[in-house]
Amino acid sequence: MGNIDPAFVQSTEHRPKSKVVEVNEIPVIDLSESRDESLVVSEIGKACEKWGFFQVINHGIPSELGKEVEIEAKKFFGRDLEEKRKVRRDEFNAMGYHDGEHTKNVRDWKEVFDYLVEDNAQVPSSYEPHDKDLRTLTNQWPQHSVDFRETMEEYSREVEKLAHRLLGLILSSLGLAADKFHGCFKNQLSMVRLNYYPPCPFPDLALGVGRHKDSSALTVLAQDDVGGLQVKRKSDGEWIPVKPCPDAFIINVGDIVQVWSNDKYESVEHRVVVNTTKERFSVPFFFFPAHHVTVKPCEELVNEQNPARFREYNYGKFFANRNRSDFKKRDVENIQIQHFRILD
Ligand code: OGA
Ligand code: NI
Repeated sequence: MGNIDPAFVQSTEHRPKSKVVEVNEIPVIDLSESRDESLVVSEIGKACEKWGFFQVINHGIPSELGKEVEIEAKKFFGRDLEEKRKVRRDEFNAMGYHDGEHTKNVRDWKEVFDYLVEDNAQVPSSYEPHDKDLRTLTNQWPQHSVDFRETMEEYSREVEKLAHRLLGLILSSLGLAADKFHGCFKNQLSMVRLNYYPPCPFPDLALGVGRHKDSSALTVLAQDDVGGLQVKRKSDGEWIPVKPCPDAFIINVGDIVQVWSNDKYESVEHRVVVNTTKERFSVPFFFFPAHHVTVKPCEELVNEQNPARFREYNYGKFFANRNRSDFKKRDVENIQIQHFRILD
């Protein structure tokens, strides 16, 4: 057993506590089309308010497709580093392969492959507010396999439909029109991330992903049966494991829904603990709007008693800021919706 690279060592605050609560409290919601829609809406509303996380079953996405994604992803991550690095992300293109994000000087114990749901997306050239230039983000596909690309493209098309449906249900639960933000996702920046977490011999020193919130509207996550995702319970701040449930997707409220809902539904912190013996795969779909979208609390939810709690922000600039290259990002804090907060 070698020594751990100091870049992976998490601060004490980030380290998993040995006390782990072994219960599955995260609500599981049945999305069968035959169910009464108002019941589904009310279950989703309650889950968003209490947890910011829920799982969905009978969502209509065939489990074979999920399995194909896992097979292709395993083949990809099993290739030589040299092969994988041919599609490596760099300062100019945030899509492709990389090994671990830097969060505050600490690296996550994982490898990643990112691709856009709508290829050739327009994004701001820089995160500087006055710079109006745009550039194109392009997917980088491995040359060795047509199947990889076809499987991933089919998967993202399917999950996109589910993401639209879920957002509609969430908006309905807030008393808003289900299609209110549909147009914001034309030319979307949504992306799918293939996460590969190798076994880690230092479970007390490293995390698969350090604590964070997703900057998406919502995230649709597929995970295998290994487990490791933990959610910070709103009532007491305890880390609660999300128990793998076959064929279910894990849904979480992201920062954009928090702002749209004016804090009614919070984007909740989560993290991934490592496993000493097993490798783990997970596949989040981050539902991001187009670059020109202005994110702000919904007017329908704001009044004198409940004034807007956030200033508006441009999503493209937020995205550009978050996607600065790892190198530049090492010592700066990620931009957060907190930076646009007016009221606590
Ligand atoms: C993420 C994330 C969870 C997981 O990539 O943002 O929270 O289980 N992943 O991999
Ligand atoms: Ni996340």
